[in-house]
Amino acid sequence: MSTTPSHTLSPIGAGWTRVEGPLKVAGRARYAADHHFPAMLYAVPVCATVARGRIRRIETRVAQDMPGVRKVFTRENIGRFSRIEEKTAKLDEYRPPLDDDVIRYYGQYVALVVAGTLEQACAAAAAITVEYEEEPPDVSMELAPEEAPQVESERGDAPSAFERGEVCIDRVYTTPPETNNPLEMHATVAMYDEGQGFTLYESSQAVVNHRVALAAMLGEPPHRVRVITEHVGSGFGSKLWPWGHSALAAAAARDVRQPVKLVLSRRMMFHNVGHRSNTRQRVRLSATADGKLTSLQHDYLFHVAREEYHKENCGEASAFLYSTPNLRVTYGSARRDIAPTTSMRGPGAVPGLYAIESAMDELAVALGIDPVALRLRNEPSRDEASNLPFSSRHLRECLVQGAERFGWPRRDPRIGAMRRDGLVLGWGMASCSWMATRLKAEAQVDLRADGTVRVASATQDIGTGTYTVMAQMTAHVLGVPAGCIEVQLGDTTLPAGPTSGGSMATGSLVPAVLAAARDALARLAHCAERLGWVEPAEDVDAWCMSDGRLHRVGEPPAAGVAFERILQAAKLNVLSGRGSAKASSKDPAYQRHSNHSFGAHFVEVTWEPAIARLRVSRVVTAIDAGRIINPRTGRNQVEGAIVMGVGMALLEETIYDERSGAPINNNLADYMVATHADAPEIDVCFIEHPDVVLNELGARGIGEIGLAGIAAAIASAVYHATGVRVRDLPVKIEDLLGSGSAP
Ligand code: MOS
Repeated sequence: MSTTPSHTLSPIGAGWTRVEGPLKVAGRARYAADHHFPAMLYAVPVCATVARGRIRRIETRVAQDMPGVRKVFTRENIGRFSRIEEKTAKLDEYRPPLDDDVIRYYGQYVALVVAGTLEQACAAAAAITVEYEEEPPDVSMELAPEEAPQVESERGDAPSAFERGEVCIDRVYTTPPETNNPLEMHATVAMYDEGQGFTLYESSQAVVNHRVALAAMLGEPPHRVRVITEHVGSGFGSKLWPWGHSALAAAAARDVRQPVKLVLSRRMMFHNVGHRSNTRQRVRLSATADGKLTSLQHDYLFHVAREEYHKENCGEASAFLYSTPNLRVTYGSARRDIAPTTSMRGPGAVPGLYAIESAMDELAVALGIDPVALRLRNEPSRDEASNLPFSSRHLRECLVQGAERFGWPRRDPRIGAMRRDGLVLGWGMASCSWMATRLKAEAQVDLRADGTVRVASATQDIGTGTYTVMAQMTAHVLGVPAGCIEVQLGDTTLPAGPTSGGSMATGSLVPAVLAAARDALARLAHCAERLGWVEPAEDVDAWCMSDGRLHRVGEPPAAGVAFERILQAAKLNVLSGRGSAKASSKDPAYQRHSNHSFGAHFVEVTWEPAIARLRVSRVVTAIDAGRIINPRTGRNQVEGAIVMGVGMALLEETIYDERSGAPINNNLADYMVATHADAPEIDVCFIEHPDVVLNELGARGIGEIGLAGIAAAIASAVYHATGVRVRDLPVKIEDLLGSGSAP
């Protein structure tokens, strides 16, 4: 541990290194698929090779007789999975696996082989033949409204204001389907015991929901399902809610009475665990000649699976980001024969802000106004959609400080006019925003007689630093050094913690962990008073802890007592404090505000017209996410999001074969994500204004906002370098050929 807090320095805001870092570096951190048990079997699903139709016949006899095969499951013998409703638990695909003989998308599970080794299971799965009654699928990426678009937000009369606008922009932007590609594959290791029920080792962003969902599907009471997720190699939204493989593995384990491991292949990741919808977004802006917005219209469409619905919420920030008297946001969806869609990092806002912020850049060009100045000109004083004050909005500061750090005032707005070392430079920028919400959460803090402290909650660390910030919150109250704090999470036997999604985990844990630590402290003080070791205090707030010692506020720690001595004298092994907090939706102060994080990206691209090479070379991002509990893990989140943004802007696109309906670039060679070689120089700065409406520490989430807006900033930088405005992501080299051959 790098930092040992003293009583004079709060651990909140300190750059503690990751609590679980040594485990990960040593290869001892166990991810779902790392769990092995005696007599464990391997499950391999068989996936449909058509995208629409019916199963006529499944021939499993050859597979059944192959070496090592324990059992082949189809819908005839897997047993029944109960349907669940959204009010019970969240799923992306409510239709259970192997439910009927209808094929709704390419890759849908049609059978499952369970065998002694992975190789035996793969070989047998390949030997299963399926006859289909095939129908031509529709996986068209062209989006047209299939029913009347629904109004999401409206004020004033945007269409008339647009007609009267002095300067107007009317553009269509599209983003392709993107596939969540966490490094760690989805996996389940399922065990069943007659007496105790199920133990599921999962790669999950929400163990509590996972337990409720699987219990309902498997027809068990929740207490007979335990879900364990010690570490997650990212999820990006695809691991928020359980997918079919988990139910398949659990049902197989119950049937064969042996542990069953099911790990998805990278190929399956492209059709069995969700993706981000493609979008088509029309943005209309009008402004006065001096750059005051008079209207904003955002009409967006996205594709969804044939039977499941997931809204790609592109309008998330449209209604409050800028001041305009007239606004209209509408949405609609188009059904396709594609696998169910899901949340992908910054769902909705990320494609939405690509469109809105690109249009703002186009408007700035049309007006001849600097794009930063245009944003500043339209900064609202309150949320004009909800007519509520912002809890804490410092976008202006992000724009001003980000611009200064980047060197934006030196920008020459003429296309291709900036050069360095023979490269054409393009400078672009964009604003960003992401919601700030708290989920209900519970936590427990134990003071132990061996001088250590344990903090626990059934939440997850998806690589974001949850282990570490939980330790910091505990140390903040108890004044104990990092080295004596043990953090436990990712286990449904612990007090119910928040989902790791929507950038909500940290902010939701703050009130629960602080309350649990304070409860432990109060019990400790009571214990010391009863022992007669200290004079009783009138009220519990008279006590605090620092350097692991209980003492009176205002007195030095040396005047107090080490907490473990109190426990030892009281003959207690452990003294537990519990804390819980309601969701922000139940909090009146929260409800009286508009709660969001904000930020601004400044991007430099380099363009070499002679060899058509485009690179993102430098990014400065200023983020207003309230108080940053750990600047090291916080910055890491924003850096990761920016690299992902380079992928979104320049590389990522899932391509579907129109004939078979298959995602054909279903591997990391053909579906390109940004790698280290694509990563620019990144400078992240935090504009730290604690948002105490959200929680006492003023900490909002930080996992997603960094990806919002970045693709627009990159596309605008590309325009500045080349004069080519790309409105269909990703930006491809062929879009730019023939441009910028000047000077
Ligand atoms: Mo995030 S897409 O809510 O995991």
